[in-house]
Amino acid sequence: MAELIDGKKISQDLKDEVKEKVAELKAQGVEVTLAVILVGNDPASTVYVGNKKKACEYTGINSKSFELPEETTQEELMKLIKDLNEDDSVNGILVQLPLPKHLDEDKVIRAISPNKDVDGFHPESVGRLSIGVPGFVSCTPAGVIELLKRSGTVLDGANAVVVGRSNIVGKPMSVLLLRENATVTICHSHTKNLKEICKAADILVVAIGQPKFIDGSYIKEGATVIDVGIHRIDGTKKLCGDVDFDSAAEVAGKITPVPGGVGPMTIAELMNNCLQSALMCK
Ligand code: GUN
Repeated sequence: MAELIDGKKISQDLKDEVKEKVAELKAQGVEVTLAVILVGNDPASTVYVGNKKKACEYTGINSKSFELPEETTQEELMKLIKDLNEDDSVNGILVQLPLPKHLDEDKVIRAISPNKDVDGFHPESVGRLSIGVPGFVSCTPAGVIELLKRSGTVLDGANAVVVGRSNIVGKPMSVLLLRENATVTICHSHTKNLKEICKAADILVVAIGQPKFIDGSYIKEGATVIDVGIHRIDGTKKLCGDVDFDSAAEVAGKITPVPGGVGPMTIAELMNNCLQSALMCK
């Protein structure tokens, strides 16, 4: 039976480290502030934003909340971002996605100053990551790297397979693993021999958005399995990931549960990015 990688505990440790450094900055007269923008009232987004604000409170980061009506225009949103870019008291700007359909998400992401892009979604942040210069890294893949390191998984020279190629997880994940000297393969919906490739992985990161798609037959004995997916099991309150946990845990060496694996790391990394932003302009 695989060892569990406890994302709740690891994210708590990371938040406590951030909290300590935020307090040190405060003692030097430096405040850390995150601006959170939510447009409309999507229930899931409202919950996520609430959790981000709670994490700010916990770590001592100020949160400035902008809850805008569904009818907000592109111009109004762009003006708010411009004002926050110019506001020296704001270190990070987060626009909760998805935005209502009439708004141009890409334009909004590009409007955020790369110096305050704590989500790491701006093309400049993505470019910086890809050429290996300092910049903000997308929170979920950054959290996966912490889970791997803090669970004692060897990254250097490991065969890492990433299943999924999204801009938010799969692509930055593969670059981060490469930065850690892993040998990286990216798989997606057109990949041939998916099972064979996964079975050769020392580290398997699954981010495809399909419930229980990867079962134990895809996993090498002793591999580390990271499940980025999160789904509600039909008709229940239970959650599952992209990995069929029960069969995977019989083969893997280490595995993240859902919930309590990757999920809590995303917000902890967001707090860390806010801290890093404040340290950069200190
Ligand atoms: N919506 C779902 N995940 C995220 C995230 O990490 N950042 C933002 N801004 N919106 C999201």
